[in-house]
Amino acid sequence: MELKTIQEKFKSLYGTAGVVYTSPGRINLIGEHTDYNGGFVLPGAIDKAMYCEIKPNGTDKVRAFALDLEESAEFGLGENDLPAKQWAKYIYGVCREIIKKGKSVPGFDCVFAGDVPLGAGMSSSAALESCFGFAINDTYNLGLDRFELALIGQATEHNYVGVKCGIMDQFASCFGKEGSLIRLDCRSLEYQYVPFNPAGYRLVLVNTCVSHNLAEGAYNKRRHSCENVAAAIKKRHPEVELLRDANLDMLKEVANEVSAEDYIRAEFVIEEIQRLLDACAALEIGDYETVGKKMYETHIGLSRKYEVSCEELDFLNDIARECGVSGSRVMGGGFGGCTINLVKNELYDGFIKRATESYEQKFKIKPKVYDVIIKDGARKLYIQ
Ligand code: GLA
Repeated sequence: MELKTIQEKFKSLYGTAGVVYTSPGRINLIGEHTDYNGGFVLPGAIDKAMYCEIKPNGTDKVRAFALDLEESAEFGLGENDLPAKQWAKYIYGVCREIIKKGKSVPGFDCVFAGDVPLGAGMSSSAALESCFGFAINDTYNLGLDRFELALIGQATEHNYVGVKCGIMDQFASCFGKEGSLIRLDCRSLEYQYVPFNPAGYRLVLVNTCVSHNLAEGAYNKRRHSCENVAAAIKKRHPEVELLRDANLDMLKEVANEVSAEDYIRAEFVIEEIQRLLDACAALEIGDYETVGKKMYETHIGLSRKYEVSCEELDFLNDIARECGVSGSRVMGGGFGGCTINLVKNELYDGFIKRATESYEQKFKIKPKVYDVIIKDGARKLYIQ
C-alpha cells in the first residue's frame, strides 16, 4: 500500500496533513461460524490492511474520501444523518456507536484506502471499522480500549450494515500480534496468543474471486437457525444460552422440535467448536497433519451441513486434496472468497500451479494467491 498516495490526496483535498492509522484484515485457521454461538475461533491479523489519514476540521461534519473508489462523501453525525454511500455508512456507524457511549466526536477530514481484497472473506469491513475506531479514539483522546473498539466495529455491522456478525473479525483486527494466532473465547472475550510458525509448512490463501450475492441475508439466517436451536434446548436445559453450551446429545433431544435445516446447522456448530479445541491441542504439540485433517472436516461441514460453500470453493478444496495438501477449507463467512490451505513446503509450487491453472480453465476466472503473513493489529503509523 502506497501511503504516500493517501498523504498526497489528503494534502490536495484539505491543504494540510493529518495522522495516519491502519488496521488489518484477518485469516482464521479454524473455528468458523462459532463466534456468534459463543464458541472459540483462531484468527490472526494479516499484512493486508486499511489505512486512513484523519484530522479534526473544526466543524460538526465529516468529509471523507475513498481513494480506491475515487469517491467523496460529506455527512453530519446526528441520528438521522446516515449517508447514502455504502462505504460511508461504516465510518458514520463507527462514529455513531462511539457517540452512543457518551463520547463526543467532532467533525474531521479523512482519506482512506486499503489492500484487503473485498468480498474475499478476509474482513475488509472489520479492518475499515477498526481503523476508524482506533483513529477517532486516538485523535480525540476518548480513552476507549481495544475491547470496546472491537465491539464498536461489530455494533456498526449490526446497526448500520445489517450483518449480524460475531466478534471474530473486529477482535482480530484490533488485537492482532505479529507471528501469533489468537485463540479467542467469543463469549468471555478471554484470549491467548498462540505463536504460529509451522516449520515445514506454508499457509496460503487461494481466492476464488467470486462473491455470491445474498450472502448477508444467508448469514443472518444461519445465525437465526442457531438461536432457534439454542432456545429449544434451553427449555430442557436452562443453563444453555448459546450453542456453545450444548452438546450433541442435547441436540438429539430436540430433533422433533426444530426444523431439519436448523438441526443440521446446529450440529455443524457443535462439532466445529470441538474441532477447534482438537486442532488447538494438535497445534500445541506441533502436529500439523492433525490440524490439517480438522480443516478438511470443517470444509465438509461448512459445505454439506452449514451450506455456506459454493461450487468454486468446493472445486479448490478437491484440488487441494488431490495435491496432497495437508489442510484446506473455505475461510470466513463463505459463499465465495478464499480457501485457506496448509501446505508442505515441497508441495507448494505444484499445488499453486495446479490450483490456479485448473480453476482458470474451469471457471474462466484467474484466482489470486496470497501467502499468509501474520502481523500486528490496529495502530498509529509514524511516518518520516
Ligand atoms: C464473518 C463474520 C464473523 C464470523 C465469520 C464466520 O467473517 O463477520 O463474525 O461469523 O463470518 O466464522
